[in-house]
Amino acid sequence: MQPLNSVSALREFLAVKASIVFVPTMGNLHEGHIDLVRQARNHGECVVVSIFVNPLQFGPAEDFDKYPRTLAEDCKKLQGLADAVFAPSVNEMYPQQQTIYIEPPTIANELCGEVRPGHFRGMATVVLKLLNIVQPQVVIFGKKDYQQLYIIRQMVTQMNLPIRIIGGVTVRAKDGLALSSRNQYLTETERAEAPFLYQVLTKISQCLQNGERDMFKLEHDAKTALAQRGWQVEYVSTRNRLTLAEPDSEDRELVVLAAARLGVTRLIDNMEIDIG
Ligand code: PAF
Repeated sequence: MQPLNSVSALREFLAVKASIVFVPTMGNLHEGHIDLVRQARNHGECVVVSIFVNPLQFGPAEDFDKYPRTLAEDCKKLQGLADAVFAPSVNEMYPQQQTIYIEPPTIANELCGEVRPGHFRGMATVVLKLLNIVQPQVVIFGKKDYQQLYIIRQMVTQMNLPIRIIGGVTVRAKDGLALSSRNQYLTETERAEAPFLYQVLTKISQCLQNGERDMFKLEHDAKTALAQRGWQVEYVSTRNRLTLAEPDSEDRELVVLAAARLGVTRLIDNMEIDIG
């Protein structure tokens, strides 16, 4: 499948399409992305996938240059699944310096935002640009980037965009590790250790479902267990699922989110929890 590289070529292609379902990605597609693209088919006539590594959402010390770019393989994987692949250059997306940004809500300064200042601002800005370019009725994002999904939902609601956002369930390897393009940075030993992040989330989920309510202790124990095995923990935090605020004792729909580094690789994961 030949990617479309320009906004004008994409718009021309989409001009005659009745309903568009969109899956934005940064490429290096794995089964998690492919699962979202397969779901997209159930929600509209024309499935568009974008592949764009967005410089605006990477900090100066982050992996923008190193981020795996595998356009030819990605296009092969999308053959028969997507109707169009939009793979613009940085110049095509930012023909002039971007001086107007989406300012995300303050939750963007917590969790991942605390260690990645400006990340969600850059992410929301490119997502809005992509939505304006593609003009889909439905957009699908993975729930693995839970905070990202929350901020996008807020942007779409608060900016009155006529778009339905769907959160796709995280696809995991057999040992529980959430699929991510960054998993390939892991050494063999780190890859064997990596599912432990999922295991600590599972333990918190089970404890909460069994009636434990001391979230601070559960999070503290999880962080200690990770640190003892050599992880550099950024956060393990239980939140209200609908607001991402810290939960109060009445909250029943929760999500526990975590980010931690194994060597140079930063992994994030989360688990939704319903407590009785
Ligand atoms: O989740 C991603 O891959 C990116 O943050 C997104 C939504 C494509 C924006 O660059």
